[in-house]
Amino acid sequence: MHLKRHFLLSVAALSVGVLLSACNKPASEPAAAPAAPAPAARVVTVGTDPTYAPFEFQNEKGEIVGFDIDVVRAAAQKAGLEVKFVSTPWEGAINALTQGDRDLLVSAITITDERKQSIDFTEPYFEASQLIAVSASSTATQLDDLKKSKIGVQTSTTGEEVVVKLLGKTNSNIKRFESTPLALSELAAGGVDAVVADNGVVSHYLANNPSAKFKALSDPSFAPEFYGLALKKGNTELQALLNKGLADIKADGSYQKIYDQYFAPAAK
Ligand code: ARG
Repeated sequence: MHLKRHFLLSVAALSVGVLLSACNKPASEPAAAPAAPAPAARVVTVGTDPTYAPFEFQNEKGEIVGFDIDVVRAAAQKAGLEVKFVSTPWEGAINALTQGDRDLLVSAITITDERKQSIDFTEPYFEASQLIAVSASSTATQLDDLKKSKIGVQTSTTGEEVVVKLLGKTNSNIKRFESTPLALSELAAGGVDAVVADNGVVSHYLANNPSAKFKALSDPSFAPEFYGLALKKGNTELQALLNKGLADIKADGSYQKIYDQYFAPAAK
């Protein structure tokens, strides 16, 4: 009996409180407005080299868009993080990360043991491999057939690595470019005989530039590669948040939706 009365009194006091606060609100304020402002989401500065369609590129408006961008946005949202993408040239990207100018890198970055010595990665979010672009008239069928050829690569990529393995680091037939599109233009111009880059990017280029008359060659020696988001060494807190975000978007189907948007063959 005593307890019950106490309870009723508390309910009554609570109702008065609610009524009072309702009366205090200016008429224009929506009824559902939270009493206190939500804490500002933490902003993560994400470096990306937007020359790698369909993973990261700039649209007609100059906005940074692509598969990687959507994946990071979705995973970050699950983790309660706000993201800000900043165009960051590939070659300086790891430095920008280790110096703290960027919190995260997304750039179709292959997780390699060598890179793991200086930076950390999230769990893999995408599987890729190298692919060779050659002129449609080329007689080459695999990497080995290009031993005497000029091969274009983007500097410091896994594409460069496979070509270095074939030709040797100092071979002057390796033509290094700042970006993969520059290497592909050089192939179109006849300055190189082949370009080695990530399969998704080479396929995308071929599909969107039919007039370039290229074909793609795969090679049995190309190992599977896995893309990860790159973090400063020891940033385990952000790493854990993003791993959780990535797992969440895989579990709820949003990763698949993004994937289909960029990679599913267009419905005919
Ligand atoms: N996956 C390759 C690598 O990690 C190439 C990535 C190049 N990415 C870019 N946005 N340019 O070396």
